Parts: sequence; structure tokens; C-alpha cells
Amino acid sequence: MAAEAFVALLNEQIAHEYAAHQQYVACAVYYDAETLPQLARFFYAQALEERDHAMMMVQYLIDADERGVIPCVTAPQVDFADIVAPVALALDQEKRVTVQINALAGCARAEGDYTSEQFMQWFIKEQVEEVATMSDLLRVVERSKDDPMDIENFMAREMADSDGGDPTAPTPAGA
Ligand SMILES: [Fe+2]
Ligand SMILES: [Fe+2]
Repeated sequence: MAAEAFVALLNEQIAHEYAAHQQYVACAVYYDAETLPQLARFFYAQALEERDHAMMMVQYLIDADERGVIPCVTAPQVDFADIVAPVALALDQEKRVTVQINALAGCARAEGDYTSEQFMQWFIKEQVEEVATMSDLLRVVERSKDDPMDIENFMAREMADSDGGDPTAPTPAGA
């Protein structure tokens, strides 16, 4: 019910989203160990969002009567030079995912699979937000890297509830 090329690419993306989940857990654990609980909380929450992205894609494949493959995941980076590095890595990751999401929408359109193209629209919007959030955070972390409590205060003030439920979001499998 979905184009074969799109299904293959979406299954690759499920692995990328799970890898993003693991990477954000690793970032959260790093900040937790540094006793920067607000940064840790932010990354734990981001990790859950990535897991949901993967499971939204799984649900789409189930609904389309296609095979969703739960992937093996590449190991995340767990050591960081300083407290800026995890955020810089996260911004790179979000930019990379944006390219992947656009490629998925492009594939669906090229295959004439307009249902899958429409499914990708929410992810396109989501990536605009995720890149913007990480690039704002990178600016803040770079500016205040010598005073991490400044960053913690910023996180508590501005990022207390990063994504309070989006009614337009696709449903993750199992939710
Ligand atoms: Fe994602
Ligand atoms: Fe993301």
C-alpha cells in the first residue's frame, strides 16, 4: 500500500530515530553525571520524542500493511570534551535528520505515493522546530559555558516543558 522504495527508506529512518534516542539518552546521562539536572531533563525528554518518532513510523507501516523493522542501533557518543559538545552534536544530528526527512518526502512524491508524502509533512514541520530549538540552545550554552548555572536557569525558565503534546502528531505504535 506504500511505495516499496519509500518503505525501505522509512525503515532506515526508524533506525536513525532510534539512534537519535540513544544519543540523547547518552547526552542526558553525561549532564546528569555533571550535576546539570535541567540540561539532563531536557535531553531525557528529547530522547523520548525521538523514540516516539520511530514508533510513529512503525505505526504508519502497520496501518499501510507494510513491514516495519525494529532495528539494531549504532552506539552513541558517550564522552564529551565539555558541556557545549553534546548540544553541538545534537544540532548536527537534527540538521542531518532534516535532510533525511526531506529525502523521504521527495521519495514518496517521486513514486507517486501521496499518502506517504502527506505522512511526512508533520515530520518536516517538527524538524524546523527541532533545529531551531537546538540552535538556540547552542547559542545559550556557548555564551554561558563558564557559568553553567546560567544555562541551568535558562533551561528551567525557557525550556521547562519542551513539547506539551501536539494534537496534530501521528500516533506512535503502542500508544
Ligand atoms: Fe526525530
Ligand atoms: Fe529530533
